[in-house]
Amino acid sequence: MLAVTFDILSERARSARSSAVRDLLRLTEQPHVLSMAGGLPASEMLPVSAIRAASAEVLDRLGPAALQYGPTEGVAALRHIVAARLGGSATPEGTVITTGSQQALDLLARVLLDPGDVVVTETPTYLGALSALHWQRPRIEGVEGDHDGMRTDLLADRLAEGLRPKMLYVVTEFANPTGATLSLERRQHLAALAEQYNFVVVEDDPYGALRFRGVRHPPIRTWSDRVVTLGTASKILSPGLRVGWLTAPHWLARPIVIAKQAADLHTATLNQHLVLSLLSDEPWMKTHVAAIVAFYGSRAECLQRSLTVHLGDAVEFNAPDGGMFVWGHMTDPSIRTEALLNAAVEQGVAFVPGSAFRHDALDNSTLRLCFTTLNAEQLNEAASRLAKAATQTPIR
Ligand SMILES: Cc1ncc(COP(=O)(O)O)c(C=O)c1O
Repeated sequence: MLAVTFDILSERARSARSSAVRDLLRLTEQPHVLSMAGGLPASEMLPVSAIRAASAEVLDRLGPAALQYGPTEGVAALRHIVAARLGGSATPEGTVITTGSQQALDLLARVLLDPGDVVVTETPTYLGALSALHWQRPRIEGVEGDHDGMRTDLLADRLAEGLRPKMLYVVTEFANPTGATLSLERRQHLAALAEQYNFVVVEDDPYGALRFRGVRHPPIRTWSDRVVTLGTASKILSPGLRVGWLTAPHWLARPIVIAKQAADLHTATLNQHLVLSLLSDEPWMKTHVAAIVAFYGSRAECLQRSLTVHLGDAVEFNAPDGGMFVWGHMTDPSIRTEALLNAAVEQGVAFVPGSAFRHDALDNSTLRLCFTTLNAEQLNEAASRLAKAATQTPIR
């Protein structure tokens, strides 16, 4: 048998190797490590009995139809209910059910980008978006964000200087990784820039329902029809069902459906019906999401308290209004958070260094802490271990 060599891989596959940080994060899966790296929903909040009941109900009602192939766009009733929940300009015709919102990112990259095309992302941004974009070999241009999301003033300057993106990607509510929410003014500004410079805005919103306080701003698509909105059942129901969605202008929904047909024909029929069944039960959804919000809200506070107690001035962090993440910044400029992760894993605690969330990896001082999966006692212990790691050498 001939030895298969690395050279047989496509150029894209060869350039898509795992990063050092990702390799290091594998170490965080050891049982003694208190991991704030994951970004997983709390297992206590996954609705096992509701999904068991919905499965029985769907199979009784639909029989084999629940197990059959279905339309690429998704189950019609689910597209209707998703469009209604999204509101505003969202229509069932422009709504496509995807295999998680991760697939929506992949499909958008396929239908919008040729190699070398420019995509703007906030820096830092969701790692999975960078991975999905990478396969189309675009040129990624980062625009810094702050506690109000992407700095649209900086974007406007870059556009005025000649930057011509085809696509711009932002996480609008309680962003992964920073926990920041895009302000109302910046949403309007982004929409105006998309109109002026003719690019597509992808507004990704997996966390919007997980709001601890404050009021929700309208989505960017309120002010422009050059916007695609992504959503998912992953954070409110179950990530393992792999049901997400996008709503797009009709001219863009059509090629997305064609690309999806090639990718996976359609999202799992039974899973779509399960999500439809649960989303249709509005009183149950209200109670269920309120329970998740209360649970995460108290864990977020607990992590913030523990960081203050154990790390004091050594770390500055945000107090997110929702979502799953606290974003921290080590104040000692000589501490590099990639090196800190090594020391942290030795102490039995893990986080994701900020460099993982940048296309240029140029960040030494920040870290993302996910508060959803550890209880109060574990969060306190995790912060204490992190403080020990921060006093160790070498972390520079
Ligand atoms: C910002 C963001 N977008 C998309 C996803 C993908 O979610 P899913 O494919 O489970 O819908 C995630 C997952 O963590 C995320 O944080």
